[in-house]
Amino acid sequence: MRSKGGNMTQASSGGFYESNWLKIQWLQIVTQVVHVFVAVVLIGVPFVVRYVVIPHADDATTAEVVKGFYSVWPLIIAIVLFSSGLLNFLFANSGSGNSFIGSFLTPFGVTVLVKMSLLVVINVISISLGMNENFQADADMWLLVLMTIGLVALILGSTLHRGGIRLSKS
Ligand code: HEM
Repeated sequence: MRSKGGNMTQASSGGFYESNWLKIQWLQIVTQVVHVFVAVVLIGVPFVVRYVVIPHADDATTAEVVKGFYSVWPLIIAIVLFSSGLLNFLFANSGSGNSFIGSFLTPFGVTVLVKMSLLVVINVISISLGMNENFQADADMWLLVLMTIGLVALILGSTLHRGGIRLSKS
């Protein structure tokens, strides 16, 4: 894997994204594996509960399963997904010559900000599913909403590099 973005002129210009640790390839691979694994859990759990558990369980069991998973895991998932995603973002900007704030004002940065907002929405719904009986009573609908928002974030994430979303302003 090559370090992404930038050229020699930018790389020698100094700035936030010039640190050497941003070029450590094994660290980039580890954070990417962690990020994708947690994304799989984030989308896979609502899928399995919605399409495997619920068809075979009564309402009380469904509420228990939903409450059990969504009481602790949303926060752990949010923290790991956010930190691995932020590291991915720093790695992606390595050698770009961007400032830290400037890196969020690019098409790539705005897309990542949208992903961060989606994660907040996902977490609000997840925590509500763990705590609120009205949400648990409508679990199949909310699990579908969670899956859909997660899928949108997954599509945005996969598009970042493959879709050629720019790391520079113009
Ligand atoms: C909301 C739930 C999220 C899901 C389901 C998700 C999923 C994904 C997936 C599937 C990829 C593509 C991995 C690849 O191409 O190998 C990705 C990449 C990425 N994600 Fe996320 N992500 C989420 C949240 C976040 C958050 C909160 C951030 C930032 C803090 C973030 C930052 C990134 C970045 C920068 C990449 C590009 C990595 C690269 O190609 O170098 N993601 N994400």
